[in-house]
Amino acid sequence: MTRVLGISGSLRRGSYNSALLRAATRLMPPDSSLEIASIRGVPLYDGDVEAQGIPAAVTQLKEAIVKADGVLLATPEHNNSIPGVFKNAIDWLSRPPADIKRVFGGKPFAIVGTSPGPFGTVLSQNAWLGVLRTLGTQTWFGGRLAIARAANVFDESGAIKDPLVEEQLKQFLAGYVAFLRRAAT
Ligand SMILES: Cc1cc2nc3c(=O)[nH]c(=O)nc-3n(C[C@H](O)[C@H](O)[C@H](O)COP(=O)(O)O)c2cc1C
Repeated sequence: MTRVLGISGSLRRGSYNSALLRAATRLMPPDSSLEIASIRGVPLYDGDVEAQGIPAAVTQLKEAIVKADGVLLATPEHNNSIPGVFKNAIDWLSRPPADIKRVFGGKPFAIVGTSPGPFGTVLSQNAWLGVLRTLGTQTWFGGRLAIARAANVFDESGAIKDPLVEEQLKQFLAGYVAFLRRAAT
């Protein structure tokens, strides 16, 4: 069984990116699963808070990453880059630096994203690349999924109503899981 951890970079109840991950749970290839984790509860990074100890929400997320075979980031885009709340969460996960190798080192990450605009998070996804490189991840580049005009793609309940996009997501997941299996051998 190949286990993927999906992390949405949005806190919004009606988030398109969280909806994308929920849709992905149903479209995973056979003998694989997607568990969704949340960045909710991760405080704003503050070195003084860190000096008191790593917050429980951060430790929990770190251990979920360690246990997963791969991590799928569903990123929104804010001002053509990574939303602050998402970057903040990853920054916390990189503390203390001595733990970066255990949590991120060689971990196969993948990035997807969706936005109501015409470019579907392309620039935010690109902005992640330097971060994932710095943390020593093994990010998969075999597929790309930036879903534009999200309001036309997701229905009121957050389900994907565009069959073409659903197929693209399915193909993306199949490619990523195949990569995870190759990485595990
Ligand atoms: C501060 C801010 C900046 C934004 N900048 C962009 C942007 O650069 N590109 C884009 O496609 N959408 C932008 N948006 C719109 C978001 O894509 C939209 O709010 C989206 O629904 C957020 O993702 P979510 O649905 O997962 O919460 C921005 C929204 C906010 C609040």
